[in-house]
Amino acid sequence: MNKTQQREMIAILDFGSQYTQLIARRVRECRVYCELLPATTTRAELLQRNVRGVILSGGPNSVYDAGAPLCDPAILTSGLPILGICYGMQLLAHQLGGRVAAASGRHEYGSAELEIQQTSQKAPALLRPTDVPGNGKMLAWMSHGDSVAEMPQGFVCLASSANNPIAAMAHPAGLIGLLFHPEVVHTPQGMLILQRFLFEVCGCQPNWTTGTFISEATSRIRDQVGSGRVICGLSGGVDSAVAAVLVHRAVGDQLTCIFVDTGCLRAGEPEQVVETFRQHLHIPLVVVDARARFLGRLAGVTDPEAKRRIIGEEFVRLFEAEAEKLGQVDFLAQGTLYPDVIESTSHDTTAAVRIKTHHNVGGLPEQMALRLVEPLRYLFKDEVRDVGRELGLPEEWVWRHPFPGPGLAIRVIGEVTQERLETLRAADAIVLDEVCQAGLYRELGQVFAVLTPLQSVGVMGDGRTYAHVVAVRAVTTSDFMTADWARLPYPLLASIASRIVNEVPGVNRVVYDITSKPPATIEWE
Ligand code: XMP
Repeated sequence: MNKTQQREMIAILDFGSQYTQLIARRVRECRVYCELLPATTTRAELLQRNVRGVILSGGPNSVYDAGAPLCDPAILTSGLPILGICYGMQLLAHQLGGRVAAASGRHEYGSAELEIQQTSQKAPALLRPTDVPGNGKMLAWMSHGDSVAEMPQGFVCLASSANNPIAAMAHPAGLIGLLFHPEVVHTPQGMLILQRFLFEVCGCQPNWTTGTFISEATSRIRDQVGSGRVICGLSGGVDSAVAAVLVHRAVGDQLTCIFVDTGCLRAGEPEQVVETFRQHLHIPLVVVDARARFLGRLAGVTDPEAKRRIIGEEFVRLFEAEAEKLGQVDFLAQGTLYPDVIESTSHDTTAAVRIKTHHNVGGLPEQMALRLVEPLRYLFKDEVRDVGRELGLPEEWVWRHPFPGPGLAIRVIGEVTQERLETLRAADAIVLDEVCQAGLYRELGQVFAVLTPLQSVGVMGDGRTYAHVVAVRAVTTSDFMTADWARLPYPLLASIASRIVNEVPGVNRVVYDITSKPPATIEWE
């Protein structure tokens, strides 16, 4: 494919800002395709793609730090439009002959008021005085130590803040620097500024839509798979479901889905998978009933990591056995998303402490030597939901919360037995039912019940009880790396508690988990 036949895109060079993924999501929201690329990307690499413009992200460094990442200077003079955000602006100034003032006391963290300057017609006016009628001041989110003391030649100043006379600058050749972050919601005109860069400066078209994605992905899958056979492990979550539906649309019954019932699923889940995939979507599906096998392997095991390991190993073994029964299989379809890809190719070498092993059930069994089909590897979660909806997945699938691979085994604290799983399943179904009825499901990141290993004293009728304690966990989160406990309304908590103790045998107490992550995690194990 030659360059102009490729999808037009914006390249976002990642200098390590905590907001880099957010920049990418905002650009996609403008219906322009973009990718995050390492800071070390060269002009030659950019020119191999149909790149229409470049965004230099923020980052934690000062341009004066030893080893501070710089941009390939050839990119800055390539004629491509460039938007430098925060550290990106400082790079433009530093590398093009301006001057960055290091830790000069001009740092700003939080909201600042910008005074927008009237610019000459020549420089791209991403900010205009007419954007902020009234006092002419625009709110912008700042998070910087260094700032620009002198602009490189040919730049004009677009805006000033109380601390920084040069809070935004532009050059007629399409180079723009913003000291503030247009990608965060605390900069109310941020999207307008990004749109002007994308459409007016780069000349992009807003044509990155769900429809174009589906048709491009479908033909890419056909090209890749040819007449080969594909298997896909369904986890019950939205990502693997959307990947499966997309692959099915591309190659029809060359795809077989495999769903393993580990016995650690939520109430009604295996039935829903069968109904949706076989009856509704007509996708070939093999269901493996491995409940007894998993329970047997989990007997007597209480350590959370041991539970994860057992379930992971067992899953892979069953998956392989089923795949073998299908005869020659060439490809494995997976619902890998862009944030996973970014994370796994991260240049950050800091060793992170392993908190929990997140075994991704449905992961590639290594010895199978299947080639991967990953049609969602450049999509964010919200884009996956849009694709799922367009492909006809029922709403309740599209909006499903994530569910961990080891399932209820890590929500039954302590030993996993049939009886304890039944207790948890019943309590969990009530929690979900009540939250859905209250219309709050979509506002939460995750919500579920946990069966604690505690028993407590209670009184029911005239009798004393000594029974299980169930905990309810509900969190709001944007990325599952951090989370806050959800402020569920008291009446909702009251009816959850009352229904659980009345309807679930063996439970006489319900507690609500009010810890954030960190220091807690979302799951209890
Ligand atoms: P934590 O508990 O670490 O969870 O705050 C963050 C997110 O990861 C999910 N999770 C898992 N997912 N296998 C998975 O596939 C696992 O072993 C696992 N453990 C936690 C959790 O549900 C939450 O969405």
